[in-house]
Amino acid sequence: MDIDKKILIWDLPVRFFHWLLVLGFFSAAIIALGFGDDNQNFAFHAIIGLILFFMVILRIFYGFFGTNYARFKSFLFHPKEFLIYFKSALLLNDKSYLGHNPGSAYAILFMLALIIGISITGIQLGLGNENLKDLHEIFVYLMLATVSLHIIGVIFHIFRHRDNIIASMIHGKKRSNSEVGITSSRVVVLIIFLSLLSLFTFDLISSHQKNKKTINIPVIGVQLQIGEFEIEQGKFYKNNNEHEKDDD
Ligand code: HEM
Ligand code: HEM
Repeated sequence: MDIDKKILIWDLPVRFFHWLLVLGFFSAAIIALGFGDDNQNFAFHAIIGLILFFMVILRIFYGFFGTNYARFKSFLFHPKEFLIYFKSALLLNDKSYLGHNPGSAYAILFMLALIIGISITGIQLGLGNENLKDLHEIFVYLMLATVSLHIIGVIFHIFRHRDNIIASMIHGKKRSNSEVGITSSRVVVLIIFLSLLSLFTFDLISSHQKNKKTINIPVIGVQLQIGEFEIEQGKFYKNNNEHEKDDD
């Protein structure tokens, strides 16, 4: 049997989704955490966040119709399996999985849920529900913690199993001597995914009014106020009902 046989397991939509998610999440976090909400370009963190939200919704659909290892049913593990996996990983006798292992599966589901939580609280903030700001930030910090664990898990796997899974997320292939790979990279699905994403992004960016710091959510057309904007010296307006700050 050919132990070094490489088989295709991640199709193109999964790989593009992954690296766009990484790029988008870090960009949104850097704009918000690095530059703060009084920055001129703060609205862009929400624009990127909404694009990620849309991507995650598409990924959830794909979890039912995608190729074998992209389907949720291939990485929904009982909590017991997670505990067994975690214990065996600590003892360095964990087995290698071709798709997501129970550890990465839980982290992945949690990250998808957190993007949804960050987006819903972000949308509420944009609608003027200021008391969700703490929850929005708690979700962001939980996401940063989970991403760190995810990366530690990936590095652990690479050394433990001498299997470069970062490269697998790029070219889609993994070493295997038994299990069955997928038969297609799903180029057409990738084209549909990127087209929908481009339309959504174009609509969102063209709705952005930089002077008022507003954006409109595509499809549903709800207007959001992202951060404060100054329309006269000393007067700051926030949200659609225009509060005035008492600092003049
Ligand atoms: C913001 C940062 C990140 C997020 C939100 C994230 C999220 C995810 C998600 C959602 C998946 C599942 C993909 C799918 O089935 O659609 C995944 C898998 C994966 N990610 Fe990340 N990721 C991040 C950063 C990284 C980085 C920096 C690396 C490389 C060092 C990495 C390597 C991988 C690998 C190798 C897999 C496949 C894991 C497996 O074999 O089970 N990720 N990631
Ligand atoms: C992954 C995506 C996101 C990250 C990492 C993120 C991060 C953050 C952080 C760290 C803050 C606090 C900033 C500060 O206090 O200086 C913040 C505030 C805020 N975010 Fe997000 N966010 C994301 C997505 C979104 C989305 C999708 C929306 C709306 C559609 C949004 C709307 C807002 C608003 C309105 C504020 C509060 C501004 C204020 O009133 O002070 N965010 N975000």
